Amino acid sequence: MTTWNLQGTVNHLLICGGSSCKKHKGEEVAEAIEDEIEKQGAGRLIHTTVTRCNGRCSDSCVVISYPEGVWYKEITPKLGKALVRRLLEGERLEDNVVYTYEGQFLAAAERGTKGKKKK
Ligand code: FES
Repeated sequence: MTTWNLQGTVNHLLICGGSSCKKHKGEEVAEAIEDEIEKQGAGRLIHTTVTRCNGRCSDSCVVISYPEGVWYKEITPKLGKALVRRLLEGERLEDNVVYTYEGQFLAAAERGTKGKKKK
């Protein structure tokens, strides 16, 4: 068990570890993100958590970045590394953004599956 001091953390990446994302290299994505964070010396800036299914399996592998609330789709290990570098530059991985957050989730135009309407 670990209890990190998260003071000063600027991004929290939620990396999907659900079964669909695992089939799309989810574990390798998580490893690649961790490796890049270490390579960049950014362990105090970017925290990661592997989650269960985030409910967007068609977008596998899903990575969500907080506090900005951006959902990324189809993240590969290579794109996971690129995402870390972009975040450290204060940028997004624009081509993979599927949702942004502005008081509510907003779908990025023509990206990702529409999905079922929630009741
Ligand atoms: S398994 Fe990742 S969104 Fe469902």
